Amino acid sequence: MGRFISFSFLTSHPLLLLLIIFPIIIIIQQAKPAIGLPLSTNSRWIVDENGHRVKLACVNWVSHLEPVVAEGLSKQPMDMLSKRIVDMGFNCVRLTWPLYLATNDSLASLTVRQSFQKLGLLEAIGGIQSNNPSIVDLPLIKAFQAVVASLGNNNVMVILDNHISKPGWCCSNSDGNGFFGDQYFNPDLWIKGLTKMATIFNGVRNVVGMSLRNELRGPKQNVKDWYRYMQLGAEAVHAANPEVLVILSGLNFDKDLSFVRNQAVNLTFTGKLVFEAHWYGFTDGQAWVDGNPNQVCGRVVDNVMRLSGFLLEQGWPLFVSEFGADLRGNNVNDNRYLNCFFGVAAELDWDWALWTLVGSYYLREGVIGLNEYYGLFDWNWCDIRNSSFLERISSLQSPFRGPGVFETGLHKVIYHPATGLCVQRKSFLDPLTLGPCTESEAWSYTPHKTISLKGAYFCLQAKHVGKPAKLGIICTDCGSTWEIISDSKMHLSSKADNGTTVCLDVDSSNTIVTNTCKCLSRDKTCDPASQWFKLVDSTRSSTTTKSFFQFNPILDLPGKDFIWKFFGLF
Ligand SMILES: *[C@@H]1O[C@H](CO)[C@@H](O)[C@H](O)[C@H]1NC(C)=O
Ligand SMILES: *[C@@H]1O[C@H](CO)[C@@H](O)[C@H](O)[C@H]1NC(C)=O
Ligand SMILES: *[C@@H]1O[C@H](CO)[C@@H](O)[C@H](O)[C@H]1NC(C)=O
Repeated sequence: MGRFISFSFLTSHPLLLLLIIFPIIIIIQQAKPAIGLPLSTNSRWIVDENGHRVKLACVNWVSHLEPVVAEGLSKQPMDMLSKRIVDMGFNCVRLTWPLYLATNDSLASLTVRQSFQKLGLLEAIGGIQSNNPSIVDLPLIKAFQAVVASLGNNNVMVILDNHISKPGWCCSNSDGNGFFGDQYFNPDLWIKGLTKMATIFNGVRNVVGMSLRNELRGPKQNVKDWYRYMQLGAEAVHAANPEVLVILSGLNFDKDLSFVRNQAVNLTFTGKLVFEAHWYGFTDGQAWVDGNPNQVCGRVVDNVMRLSGFLLEQGWPLFVSEFGADLRGNNVNDNRYLNCFFGVAAELDWDWALWTLVGSYYLREGVIGLNEYYGLFDWNWCDIRNSSFLERISSLQSPFRGPGVFETGLHKVIYHPATGLCVQRKSFLDPLTLGPCTESEAWSYTPHKTISLKGAYFCLQAKHVGKPAKLGIICTDCGSTWEIISDSKMHLSSKADNGTTVCLDVDSSNTIVTNTCKCLSRDKTCDPASQWFKLVDSTRSSTTTKSFFQFNPILDLPGKDFIWKFFGLF
């Protein structure tokens, strides 16, 4: 035992005191997890050890292609990438891995250098040598662990996703990796690999979940084998690592979990089961450009709810573990889908993982350095491909509601999917505008179909076509009644002073206005997205009560116009 150093000795040697205290502070800061792990489930919510909701706001980071090395490490140090992920507002990474990394020792023990050498990717070796020298001569499995550790050091949670068996791009119906019994998909080997991976990461706190298998598919898929093997896989993972969430993917490229409605998954453990689903624009082919966006959105959302969304109502967490779009913004099919997706994702407030972090791949489908237009990073893994997309997605990164999310009572926010912003007011006299949802007003949608500020007398009113919507206190006229119309159920419609039917809209300066309703049906050439709003349940903090009670008419707003403006009469 060391000799006790008296405090008076330390205070007379301040430098020594600092030397002792500083490392303690650093240790405390590093040891303090952002979230109380491990995670478990409470009905449809994923919660931390205090029972508070943790919303998974993840990004997919690919590590299952032929080199079996997390992408981008030839371009940036992994710690830098981990920090960028945090800076971009994500709390989690869905990290993909091929089964053979866990079951083929001669693959797992190849060094990073050897793996690239075998593929002739010499430039990537140089890049890794300079950006991540510590892993270049590590075995592939150790390099994978190093990425997980780097994410952990930055408080990023990790979902380990068994993406495929044989390293390579995924997924097609005929790639031999689609379903139990396929050429590269031996169920026994799969259980062995899952067990191995769950064991390796047992005790690694930031590994919070395991996706058992990505996108089951192909001619062999069937419901009976799904239950048989998924239940076995879930039990194996839980036995090896009881702390992780066990995440089950559906059939038909993870679109279809409809069978779970009638037959519950039978497991020996509770509080860890999560389902995952994938939803892209191309999931429905070219439907979004070939049809009217309101009608397509209505139809596709009904389908998503029937195939997987119903699980939320049944009290299971649904992790939408892949969605995304061409971030260059010129794919009309993707753009229209994304507007619809953002509305649903806000309304249902589900957990999600964006495809993808990757700016470019070492090697994908035979192409060296393939540019990933769905990726957050640009080709060089340095610049952000589209920063306005990041701003837009930030509204979905924190929870709207759920256990422990009760800064204020239940209310509605008026969410605008096309921008990811919410309706707010800067002051009583300024027109309503779009702003960050964290500063949203608290609204209620009453049985009389008025949209009122909670705890205040003001309601939203349509006035003139092409003019700002107002807040008024006489909430019984036609202009104060808002119907939710169109197949997308995202148009808020009312009557202007002259009797014209109008829809809530935003103008080019993000002011909330009312305009004639756009392309409600049939027309497939026009895009209604500026008029799409969702009334989203929220218990996040809001500005309404604050600004309402702080408002002092005598001090703030002298002048004869004031009374009229206050009452919203013009
Ligand atoms: C195991 O990995 C090595 C190295 O990549 C490869 O040559 C071999 O074919 C793999 N074995 C199996 C059974 O996949
Ligand atoms: C659930 O599995 C257990 C064995 O793990 C079995 O005894 C039980 O009959 C199963 N229940 C259903 C409804 O299939
Ligand atoms: C970002 O995406 C938006 C549409 O979502 C698009 O209008 C814009 O041009 C894109 N910006 C870049 C730099 O690609």
